[in-house]
Amino acid sequence: MPKVKFVPLNREVEIKNGETLFKAARVNGVPIGSSCRGDCVCGWCKVEVVAGIENLSQPGDCEKKLMKTRDYGKSERVACSARVFGDVSITTGYW
Ligand code: FES
Repeated sequence: MPKVKFVPLNREVEIKNGETLFKAARVNGVPIGSSCRGDCVCGWCKVEVVAGIENLSQPGDCEKKLMKTRDYGKSERVACSARVFGDVSITTGYW
């Protein structure tokens, strides 16, 4: 099972293969921005991937659109769309 590390919080959790970063945070009580509840609309769930970006799913059309319109950087992903298939470390500016 892949692990997600929430870097500044020094927390690491195991999740189901293919689960989203958003669900990994929510299920484990880690606060994550959202106004659309994970429907790939608001873009507030942006996270920076510190390590393991190659272990995430490729961005789909919805995520690509948000990444473009919300000025995401190369290491940033839409947490409610990015699915985890291996260990990954993430951070945000508000943790
Ligand atoms: S929670 Fe709104 S885009 Fe991810």
